Amino acid sequence: MMQNNQNLVWHSHLITRELREKLHGHKGVALWFTGLSGSGKSTIADAVEKELYQMGISSYLLDGDNIRNGLCKDLNFTHNDRKENIRRIGEVVKLMVDAGLIVLIALISPYRIERQKIRKILPRDCFLEIFVDTPLSTCESRDPKGLYKQARNGKINNFTGIHSEYQPPLQPDLRLNGSYEISHLTEQVLKLLHLRKLLVSKNINSI
Ligand code: ADX
Repeated sequence: MMQNNQNLVWHSHLITRELREKLHGHKGVALWFTGLSGSGKSTIADAVEKELYQMGISSYLLDGDNIRNGLCKDLNFTHNDRKENIRRIGEVVKLMVDAGLIVLIALISPYRIERQKIRKILPRDCFLEIFVDTPLSTCESRDPKGLYKQARNGKINNFTGIHSEYQPPLQPDLRLNGSYEISHLTEQVLKLLHLRKLLVSKNINSI
């Protein structure tokens, strides 16, 4: 690939993440939901975002399936393409966290090292890895999109959990038992946000 990132100068701006956080009344942070297809990532993230919205919190939900229709539509499910998928989404998350949003990411993101790289590019304490821990047998019996069936029939290659590896987090910020009720799991995520003091009150009087 051609290197064209020389002769660039980083611009610092007057309005910083901290100021934008003040405006929003909460921290910018990434809630990164990782787990197998059908584990419940999108459903939980959706429910958490609804609660956040009702609390007046500025958020955005990045969903793997949706992003593969646009930003990542050129990518497949090979090892390298998944790495690139995670990298691109990580860069978007970095910008959104800098914008002071609570960003929810629902992405299989099967590789431990790639997830760790995202933690490293984000400001300290801004990456919360949430492992949606649902056994493969449960995901397969749910099979909401009929993809496990197709994978078992050889119609889909490289399917995560069947022919492609999923590396669970070793020390997630939060482990959710994906077999529990969505309302209970949503509460657990909100509790984590409170515990980490990420929901602070609005005060934009001073710069
Ligand atoms: S990731 O591995 O690159 O992080 P991502 O979360 O973007 O995956 O996309 C996963 C979604 O793509 C699944 O929920 C499923 O709907 C669909 N999908 C299609 N083919 C595959 C496959 N081979 N493995 C996993 N998911 C697949």
